[in-house]
Amino acid sequence: VKRITTNTILGMKQKGEKIAMLTSYDYSMATIVDEGGIDVILVGDSASNVMAGHETTLPITLDQMIYHAASVVRAVKRALVVVDLPFGSYQGNSKEALNSAIRIMKESGAHAVKLEGGIEVRESIDRIITAGIPVMGHLGLTPQSIYKFGTYTVRAKEEAEAEKLKSDIVVLQEAGCFSVVLEKIPAKLADEVTKSVKIPTIGIGAGPHCDGQVLVVHDMLGLNKGFKPRFLRQYLNLFDEINGAVGSYVKDVKSGSFPNESEQY
Ligand code: KIV
Ligand code: NA
Repeated sequence: VKRITTNTILGMKQKGEKIAMLTSYDYSMATIVDEGGIDVILVGDSASNVMAGHETTLPITLDQMIYHAASVVRAVKRALVVVDLPFGSYQGNSKEALNSAIRIMKESGAHAVKLEGGIEVRESIDRIITAGIPVMGHLGLTPQSIYKFGTYTVRAKEEAEAEKLKSDIVVLQEAGCFSVVLEKIPAKLADEVTKSVKIPTIGIGAGPHCDGQVLVVHDMLGLNKGFKPRFLRQYLNLFDEINGAVGSYVKDVKSGSFPNESEQY
């Protein structure tokens, strides 16, 4: 199989071919997602919520991200693997940011990193890209800043914040980012900024005009019961499927019907 590279992703925008991205955090899921034909696998810091049960993405550590990323990389034959730099690993100073990105690349074998923010993190982005590490940006709702925002509602509905986003995406393009995630912003704004730059935009809750789309794999598979934001399309209801399978197993063990004649030595 031909591997997807950051150049493939940039070329897809030029050809008008949509980019499909999903998260994965472990070997088993990444194997299935990669074989399903996904273009980009994001080892998101949403692992903090989805895998570890934290309320926010803030607690996950660089070591934990590297563990998830290495597990995913071992599974993937085709997709581009992008790894989130976790909260606290790049905001403070650009040297620390570079060290964090280098650790991810060296210790996991991933292909690129992602970080949140625009002009504020420009120096960190410059330094990482100068070292030869591709960077994906992330604007709009940036969950690592949740305590600044106070809520997970739609961002950049007001003029000032929309203007800031429009200038931030140009900053990211000029810094050399190969793409940018736009999270939870009005579809019209996402359309406008997507047309204003050459780098592909990948939306989540940002409407149909982005160059690609991303979802958290557990959400689209229906593993997170009760999480049903408007932007989410749920393709399966795996919570109920697995719940039912566990119930059947418990019943079979209790009744003695498992294991049967052919399920023993
Ligand atoms: O961590 C994550 O899953 C993300 C996506 C929602 C873009 O950053
Ligand atoms: Na993230």
